[in-house]
Amino acid sequence: MEVTNVTEYQAIAKEKLPKMVYDYYASGAEDQWTLEENRNAFSRILFRPRILIDVSKIDMTTTILGFKISMPIMLAPTAMQKMAHPDGEYATARAASSAGTIMTLSSWATSSVEEVASTGPGIRFFQLYVYKDRNVVAQLVRRAEKAGFKAIALTVDTPRLGRREADIKNRFTLPPFLTLKNFEGLDLGKMDEANDSGLASYVAGQIDRTLSWKDVKWLQTITTMPILVKGVITAEDTRLAIQAGAAGIIVSNHGARQLDYVPATIMALEEVVKAAQGRVPVFLDGGVRRGTDVFKALALGASGIFIGRPVVFSLAAEGELGVRKVLQMLREEFELTMALSGCTSLREITRDHIVTEWDAPRARPAPRL
Ligand code: FNR
Repeated sequence: MEVTNVTEYQAIAKEKLPKMVYDYYASGAEDQWTLEENRNAFSRILFRPRILIDVSKIDMTTTILGFKISMPIMLAPTAMQKMAHPDGEYATARAASSAGTIMTLSSWATSSVEEVASTGPGIRFFQLYVYKDRNVVAQLVRRAEKAGFKAIALTVDTPRLGRREADIKNRFTLPPFLTLKNFEGLDLGKMDEANDSGLASYVAGQIDRTLSWKDVKWLQTITTMPILVKGVITAEDTRLAIQAGAAGIIVSNHGARQLDYVPATIMALEEVVKAAQGRVPVFLDGGVRRGTDVFKALALGASGIFIGRPVVFSLAAEGELGVRKVLQMLREEFELTMALSGCTSLREITRDHIVTEWDAPRARPAPRL
């Protein structure tokens, strides 16, 4: 059957993938309340479209950290993409670059920074997990920079891995024919089986729980790449991130895979945007599945959004072609939303184009009797 929207890839992926892999991609933490909320919250935002505006030409291009891209829809880092499809991160990189947008490569990719760079030109960011061994981190950052990556997305919501119960039940681990390629030469590329989640054990063993704001400053001493802080959902941390030298903020709850019962990112977005006061761009990920979602995020002040699961699900279903289709569908839906809202460029998308359930009731004149 023809796929006509991004969400439909999830069911196809479920049929195709081994249960352990599908569950790892799909799951959230604990009760998965935030997982549902990331989607549901978008339905609490309605449009206030403007009419009779010439929308015959629509410009969706934007500039992110100085890089011009075709649309404000980018690819979030998702780990271990070769479990979805043998081409894994190669396919994702090619699809992103042919769509004219940015791919973020996970630290835990099953292809290395050099391999992904070898797929051809493209604007790419590198997502960083900070290991206890800082030599490992410094080496990896240097390699990413040398391979032409343009920014670091520093993930700050994972001092420990969230409790993903499906992974515990499945004894999730990286299949033995794959490695975390960036760490292969460092003897950290394999994941042992554990009597719970193999990934949770790996994180407990390798990832630095002492990570703090001073490390954001340290990172700036080892690289000239701009640093996006990924995983901020409060005004307080927004201010601290800017003070620490962040070039941008990604409002993210890690696709609801870390702390359960944090708000949907689309509900946390405006608080962060207000605290940032235009000093740095603010991005969002979490639950974006429609062009209307993209528009809503921009109306609330985001400079762009990232998608996570749609990439691995479409990759599982159809490889590079699937990821291309996801990007194309979101692009077309977003363009249509702009047209039907009366916006011809991203600049024209304003807060007044939407109303949220959590907006104070607008003052209305008393009806005349
Ligand atoms: C992730 N995410 C993630 N984030 C990160 O910083 N490093 C990583 O390696 C991963 N890996 C990863 C794997 C899988 C399977 C998922 C679903 C997510 C989180 C990701 O970057 C992003 O924040 C969310 O996926 C966004 O939410 P949606 O679009 O999946 O709803």
